[in-house]
Amino acid sequence: MASRRARPRGLALYRARRTPRNRIGGRADSAPAGAVPYPVPDPPVREGSSVARTPIESERSHVFPLELARPMPVVARGEGVWIEDVAGNRYLDAMSGGSMAATLGHGRGDIVAAAVAQAAKLAFVHNERLTNPAQERLAEELTAVAPEGFTRARFTVSGADANEMALQIARSYHVERGEHHRWQVISPAQAYHGPTMQTLALTGRPGMHGPFGPYLPQHLHIPPSTWRFDPTGEAALEALDAAIEEAGPDTISTYFCEAISAAALPAYTPPVRFWEGLAERRERHGFLVCFDEVVTGVGRTGEWFAGAATACPPDLIATAKGLGAGYAAIGAVLVKEHVYQAFADGSKRFTLGHTWDGAPLACAVGIAVIDAVRREGLIERVRERGAKLRQELADALADVAIVREVRGHGYLLGVSFVDPRDGASFLPPTLRVGGRIDAAAFDRGLIVLSTQPTRDGFAGDQTLFAPAFTATDEDLGEMVSRFSDVVHQVAQDVEPELERAEPVPSTSSGGGR
Ligand SMILES: Cc1ncc(COP(=O)(O)O)c(C=O)c1O
Repeated sequence: MASRRARPRGLALYRARRTPRNRIGGRADSAPAGAVPYPVPDPPVREGSSVARTPIESERSHVFPLELARPMPVVARGEGVWIEDVAGNRYLDAMSGGSMAATLGHGRGDIVAAAVAQAAKLAFVHNERLTNPAQERLAEELTAVAPEGFTRARFTVSGADANEMALQIARSYHVERGEHHRWQVISPAQAYHGPTMQTLALTGRPGMHGPFGPYLPQHLHIPPSTWRFDPTGEAALEALDAAIEEAGPDTISTYFCEAISAAALPAYTPPVRFWEGLAERRERHGFLVCFDEVVTGVGRTGEWFAGAATACPPDLIATAKGLGAGYAAIGAVLVKEHVYQAFADGSKRFTLGHTWDGAPLACAVGIAVIDAVRREGLIERVRERGAKLRQELADALADVAIVREVRGHGYLLGVSFVDPRDGASFLPPTLRVGGRIDAAAFDRGLIVLSTQPTRDGFAGDQTLFAPAFTATDEDLGEMVSRFSDVVHQVAQDVEPELERAEPVPSTSSGGGR
């Protein structure tokens, strides 16, 4: 797209505004005692290398990128909520590293120091026959901040494999109890749980399955109970009953969902009635409830875990991103005592795992992250400042006709867009409003993340806004101001096209069962 190919407009302005306080770069005096001194020199660059080009096109790169037609800024450093590419262009990161992982911001000396200290002592041992103090301590720290009753943690490398492992633990729990017939999984259709076959299958979104449909197990799906199709949650409960009935109540292993959705339906959570109904059905039918807290775990919503507050507390929690805060690839499955007991009373084995699960280096980062979140009062800060931030966004966008709703829990905020002709229908997909918002934001040196899952039937254009917990009031104000400019501009640009475009009826057309 033309605007992406062009050098982002307006960045010269941000460069000109750089102050010594904001400048990104290592300072020798910021090196913690005993740590590798900063700045660490960059490794030598091959002759003819394109690494200094930004943005870099796929034909000049040896990387196999996600989208071959999309030139990529080459980001070399970051500090706080700012990232900087190799040409010195700066971007205000309202997405915690683009995918909500960098929850403590970029360039944290304390986390780096913890990683360096651990790597110097012991970087890696495999947890099949050996454990290590960092893994042991992180399990203590994590279960201490987890919702009541969660007594065990199994570490993983990513969110997707934490979700996969939660499914496997749930299935094994039933087998351990002699209920071999329980294997089926029910999940809301409009979700995202990861790119692996099992986690793709957990979503009921053909638009996301792409060519992998033939590989995917056919899990059962229910429509999400959003304002558009099911504001009370009763329709979702009916669909849940139908799915349970169709599969056979004693075949259900797990109900699997996000407590509060991230990119798939930004900041959405079902109505209380749905959670209550889910808890009743769990009680009646004996399945487990697993929450994907890959995004929401470790503070994102202003709680250590979002699921603690629902009327259906889970039996298993998968978490990841915020646990490593972008400094290490680490996830975890948190297990309630009664689930663990099934293994303790049974085979005493659950042996699946990846090489890097529970490795000391990643666990040391996890410990340092939890320490920092506690020490700096970031749960409270996100909870309190998040409510204000949501209001600031809502006020800034109040006069934009295509904005339907600004939702939010802590620093997980979402804006949903609608066709202003009836205030409810999806925007025509041909307008590509989500894509335009991201491109216009990028031009203004702002990183947000929009999606347009219209063809899956349950959501239209929407934007996720999820800054680092450590963002200052000034940073947040600047994010809101840039985002407001972006949305106003895009709304104005699409207005004439909207008049000519066919309306998209506000009915569910795909996904689901
Ligand atoms: C809610 C949710 N679950 C799972 C995942 C997958 O996590 P990972 O990319 O670490 O595998 C993501 C990633 O964005 C996510 O947002």
